[in-house]
Amino acid sequence: MADNQGVVVEAHEIETFRKNAFRSLSCDILKLRLTLRATEPPQKMFASLEEYQKLYKESITEPNKFWGRTARELLTWTRDFETVSAGSLAEGDVKWFVEGQLNACYNAVDRHAYKDPNRVAIIYEADEVDEGRNVTYSELLRDVSKVAWVLKQAGIKKGDTVAIYMPMIPEAVVAILACVRIGAVHSVVFAGFSADALRDRVIDAKSRFVITSDEGKRGGKFIGTKKIVDDALKQCPDVSNVLVYRRTGADINMVPGRDLWWHEEVEKWPSYIAPEPMNSEDPLFLLYTSGSTGKPKGVMHTTAGYLLGAALTGKYVFDIHDGDRYFCGGDVGWITGHTYVVYSPLLLGVATVVFEGTPAYPNFSRYWDIIEKHNITQFYVAPTALRLLKRAGDEHVRGNFKYLRTLGSVGEPIAAEVWKWYYEIVGKESAHVVDTYWQTETGSNVITPLAGVTPMKPGSASLPFFGIEPSIIDPVSGEELHGNNVEGVLAFKQAWPSIARTVYGSHKRYLDTYLHVYKGYYFTGDGAARDHEGFYWIRGRVDDVVNVSGHRLSTAEIEAALIEHHAVAEAAVVGVSDELTGQAVNAFVAIKDGNEATDALRKELVLQVRKSIGPFAAPKAVYIIGDLPKTRSGKIMRRILRKVLAGEEDQLGDVSTLSDPSVVDKIIATVHASK
Ligand code: WT7
Repeated sequence: MADNQGVVVEAHEIETFRKNAFRSLSCDILKLRLTLRATEPPQKMFASLEEYQKLYKESITEPNKFWGRTARELLTWTRDFETVSAGSLAEGDVKWFVEGQLNACYNAVDRHAYKDPNRVAIIYEADEVDEGRNVTYSELLRDVSKVAWVLKQAGIKKGDTVAIYMPMIPEAVVAILACVRIGAVHSVVFAGFSADALRDRVIDAKSRFVITSDEGKRGGKFIGTKKIVDDALKQCPDVSNVLVYRRTGADINMVPGRDLWWHEEVEKWPSYIAPEPMNSEDPLFLLYTSGSTGKPKGVMHTTAGYLLGAALTGKYVFDIHDGDRYFCGGDVGWITGHTYVVYSPLLLGVATVVFEGTPAYPNFSRYWDIIEKHNITQFYVAPTALRLLKRAGDEHVRGNFKYLRTLGSVGEPIAAEVWKWYYEIVGKESAHVVDTYWQTETGSNVITPLAGVTPMKPGSASLPFFGIEPSIIDPVSGEELHGNNVEGVLAFKQAWPSIARTVYGSHKRYLDTYLHVYKGYYFTGDGAARDHEGFYWIRGRVDDVVNVSGHRLSTAEIEAALIEHHAVAEAAVVGVSDELTGQAVNAFVAIKDGNEATDALRKELVLQVRKSIGPFAAPKAVYIIGDLPKTRSGKIMRRILRKVLAGEEDQLGDVSTLSDPSVVDKIIATVHASK
């Protein structure tokens, strides 16, 4: 049977799929699609799920063979490795491709620029429609080289950390690649973070150089990026230079001796600088993420393993091929942007969209217009955006998406009805939906369908990627639950190349958070179920991490921000489910004597969080109460707050351990009064 795009799918393959995977499925049976090539013959990775299973088995039973082969296939090395992997999860000393040397920028840029200089690397889609442009691989190589020169001239050496605080413009990618070209470690800070949050990250990473822009532009609004950097750096004496890209031409303050204009500096230097050969385990980047305690963690990824994870998932999960045009809507300030805006598509030599704007500007068709305009082949976005666009109405989903083959979802569970909408309305029932589960710490997708291969079950992240051996652990006994139809917390039994290697400056915290919770396993912090067919269903965090619009926030971090306000005695923050943002932040605050529970104070508290962390962390509701529900030993019982907010006051459970059980009624009254 040949479909209209020239792909040959054997009828018996479809039969096998159905028999193996759709047996007794309650959800709709979805059409199977193998790799679709609109213009060229198919380059199918697998003919069937059996082939995935065969390769998967090899990746688990003979990991060194599997990873040694794929590493040599997908990456270009300046020195080959002998040892594929060493160390263990139990000891927290995992290392990959130990003797190997390579350069990330060479792999992402040079090798494609030499083969095909005019191939498009970046499709810049500016905030305003039609203000964008394309950047070819050879232009990218020149731009990156010049900025690499600038960094070098400013004294940045191999191993130094450079902070990047930039909007979603091609120069953000140039900045990232310029760092890794000379062996510097990038630490991108999401440009929605406040000055205080940026300051903390610059100090923690010991960044001496900052790259930013005069302003940002998003959804028609201007953002004072450089001003935020100036505020942050007031308390960062070790930063010697700030390189400023002129994005809008706004009149900004330039500190003499410290601040450098990007356009002036790059004019000074040649358009080629040799890439620095790096050892496989040299750090590639730091990326700060929230955990259950107050202080953000600088998750460190190293070079070769991370790159391989990015390239291999691009190839298999998204089915990226030469000539594709890949559009990931994530921001470079988060891991999704690192791996799937920058590294994965560029390592595979395809065009990646850098989108500066929002899905709602100038109207709700923006994503769909981009997909049509650039003949996008893969699209990747968080369910929060899909919920917004679904709500906006199907009439906005306009255009001809004839090249679209893969639709990715990331960052939070995707509800079945949103999944269906994505598949039917956006994908026209012909693109494959991949619900990719992963984390900042995993570096790349770890539980995910492979486009064109894995049968789709709406709401399930489906099956493990190569090298990932998931375990469901009973959180009470700490024992692994074997077999199907089990539910517990999710852990991985074996190390994979793109696993984070440490928390910068705090290796013990790394061990305690991920590797020593269940000895011998990597603990994800998520609850999950394995269904009767071995498919995985992610249930969400089991720690104090909330997920707002796909942004990971720590309740402890928000509480720490609230306590900075002079009127606050104590604060407790919980996540509540929210139709649009997945979860929303709600704060309970006990104020000091002499203060009053006014709207003005509530506003100030919201502002306090915006100032300490950033606007995206702002509580949706602030409840000012006399006292928090605490045990006699002083532990705040957030469970009670969650139940009250969910309207489940009748299911509070045992409250007798509270030091003052009467606070519960007062909390219920406060919450009710505000509704
Ligand atoms: C947390 C990691 C990984 C990129 C974006 C977020 C949640 C991630 C899924 C998914 C259900 C998901 C988990 C995870 N998560 N992907 N497909 N289904 N939940 O990265 O900020 O490191 O957050 O996001 O809770 O632990 P992150």
